[in-house]
Amino acid sequence: MSYRAPSSPLTSRRSFLAGAGVGALGVGLIGDVSLASAREGRRLTEGDEAILRFLAAAEILETDLWQQYNELGGIQDREVPGGTGNSAYTAALAMLDADMAQYIHDNTDDEFTHFTFLNAYLEARGGRPVSLERFRTLPGSTATGAQEIKRLTNLMALTVDTTWWTRYRSSSMNPDFGDSFPPAVPGLLTGQFPAIPRSDADLTPATHLQAIANTAGFHFGTIEQGGTSLYPQLAQRVLDQEVLRVLLSIGPTEALHLQTWHDKAGNAPPLTDPTNGLVFPDLNSSPFGGEDFQTNLIMPEPTVFLSRKFPACSIIRPTESAGAAMGALKFLTDDGLFRGQLPAFFAFMTRLARQADAAHPAGRHV
Ligand SMILES: [Fe+2]
Ligand SMILES: [Fe+2]
Repeated sequence: MSYRAPSSPLTSRRSFLAGAGVGALGVGLIGDVSLASAREGRRLTEGDEAILRFLAAAEILETDLWQQYNELGGIQDREVPGGTGNSAYTAALAMLDADMAQYIHDNTDDEFTHFTFLNAYLEARGGRPVSLERFRTLPGSTATGAQEIKRLTNLMALTVDTTWWTRYRSSSMNPDFGDSFPPAVPGLLTGQFPAIPRSDADLTPATHLQAIANTAGFHFGTIEQGGTSLYPQLAQRVLDQEVLRVLLSIGPTEALHLQTWHDKAGNAPPLTDPTNGLVFPDLNSSPFGGEDFQTNLIMPEPTVFLSRKFPACSIIRPTESAGAAMGALKFLTDDGLFRGQLPAFFAFMTRLARQADAAHPAGRHV
């Protein structure tokens, strides 16, 4: 157990900073950690470092994909530079909500800060930061608005799992009990579909471009529900109290993103893509509809948790910790995000995930 004694110098310093106000704490955070760690030599355990490194890598990958969405469909500014926007794609996204460009920008901005903080924190605690730059080999979109740079992730041939939609609506099932769930958009699981225009040829016909924007709209939720589970899954196995604080403070922002995207995906116009037959069903009509699909049911339905003997509880799901990092890597791979990536990329990510899953299997049990 690594809880610090209340009288430790770090605790005193943190109390002092907390007393100085939230602004001072925010500005001084990384410097504070660095000073305290150098002073106390509180190097991370191997397991905590492995968990932070896997999360940093996952956040770098999230940032890369969100950056691509922002260049074409978000707001390009000093906070999230790069790209010049694609007006037709941005307009198609706006069919889901007039503020989609702002939300895409803000989610992208958040992901940058997640990986940047995690890497700075790793260094401050004597750990190794993560870089995936050597794997930046994938071609990106050539549509108007995209930067002409290599990418880590591929948004142009996705197989999007939308089962999170029904998973969060079930009142009797939980993936941690082995339950499985029907997808909201079955077609997205049976092919490879672009979530951004691959080139300007994808800007027409209009229904095809709307299908691309709809795919993005559901993919946003697919990505963010993953982060929503990953942090609580891994937090159960960190030992250091401050590392726990890091995970418990970043993780819920993924849930804030998920909640937004869950709401917006329900506004995706029902349609059939004339170029490939992909169907976005009317989720409020038969054979969809009802509690499993109705589009305004965006808050988690209470469900079974830990044991069926307990009363139903409104929870994040899944939160089983064993194998969570490898599970997340497999999920992102099955999503198609890494189509075209080098074998060395998969080897590196698999090593990070295995190390994270090997961390402190007994967790914080006392
Ligand atoms: Fe994130
Ligand atoms: Fe995220």
